[in-house]
Amino acid sequence: MEGILHFVAKLTYLSVYSKIFLLVYQPVNFGDDDDFMDNYEPIRESFLKEVAASSSLDALYAVKVKYIGKKGVISELNKALAKLPSEEKPIAGFEIGKLRNEFSAAYDDKESSLKERELSEKLISEQIDVTLPGLTLPIGREHIINKTAGEISAFFASIGYLKATGPEVELDYYNFEALNMPYGHPARDMQDTFYVSDYEVLRTHTSPVQIRTMLACKPPIRIIAPGKVYRSDYDVTHSPMFHQVEGLYIDENISMGELKGTLEHFVKALFGSDVPVRFRASYFPFTEPSMEVDMGCSICSGGGCRVCKGAGWLEIGGCGMVAPEVFDAVRLDYNKFSGFAFGMGVERIAMLKYGIDDIRLFFENHLKFLNQF
Ligand code: DAH
Repeated sequence: MEGILHFVAKLTYLSVYSKIFLLVYQPVNFGDDDDFMDNYEPIRESFLKEVAASSSLDALYAVKVKYIGKKGVISELNKALAKLPSEEKPIAGFEIGKLRNEFSAAYDDKESSLKERELSEKLISEQIDVTLPGLTLPIGREHIINKTAGEISAFFASIGYLKATGPEVELDYYNFEALNMPYGHPARDMQDTFYVSDYEVLRTHTSPVQIRTMLACKPPIRIIAPGKVYRSDYDVTHSPMFHQVEGLYIDENISMGELKGTLEHFVKALFGSDVPVRFRASYFPFTEPSMEVDMGCSICSGGGCRVCKGAGWLEIGGCGMVAPEVFDAVRLDYNKFSGFAFGMGVERIAMLKYGIDDIRLFFENHLKFLNQF
């Protein structure tokens, strides 16, 4: 009985498949033979051959579309199945399913081996040599002028001075007038000025910060004011923009002895405790008396050289006791208060400290120069 059933099944199987393959595979052209086994095998074989020949995932995917895709071989088979007599459908359906599963399994196998190969190729081609030297990013540093201004400020901060600031475009009034340099005063000639308008200038010095501070604060006043200043000047020792640090101390009973002691202490702190300091009588409209501060030449230690022009001394700034006209301008009573002021060039101090002979080096921004400090 079993033998007969088997035989019948086999017959049905053969006849069903020969019909389907004739119907479906004409366009794909797998041969005209109408025997199922002859048709089935070539399809299977050509599928497996095409899968094996696929050398990339894209190529493999094209094979999948051709055989298992929406309009592929399997779905054509399923369409043909619908046209078969209903008693033939179950077996034919079963067989189509089996073929499909076989195709899918072969596809999946190949897909995973291709993926593995692509991954290992990618890993090899994108290999990183961790022993290669890294990229070194240049690290910036503080400009020598800012650094020097910082050192000056730090010293005065250590003896109780606060920092004050003022605008670089300054009123003529604060830059000159209130500092006892009225319009037409010959002392204005000492500072070649950039005029912004009839009543505004690019500040020629940091001294106007004295005026602004005395107008804004009551004594005791103890400030330093570092900042940029501008003059129409350009050569090895002059730059149209440079930096100054202003100092001002106003209280009752401030003496010239305190001024001298403060600046001497400052020079020794910055340049060394054995550097001599001297004060020379001078003239500034806003101080009375006025002095210039010299320190022993740091290059020749006072022996005389090219830098100090044989004098053995180098000038580092101006100073003096705040003049009565200035007290008047800020409406402070000079019978009650007294005080001193000083001003120095930051570039000049840096040049003396580091033996630099051309002020323009500070602003040309060559890294070879700047990286030394
Ligand atoms: N402002 C002066 C200049 O630029 C320097 C100066 C001298 C400032 C004496 C002062 C001072 O405060 O008392 O030439």
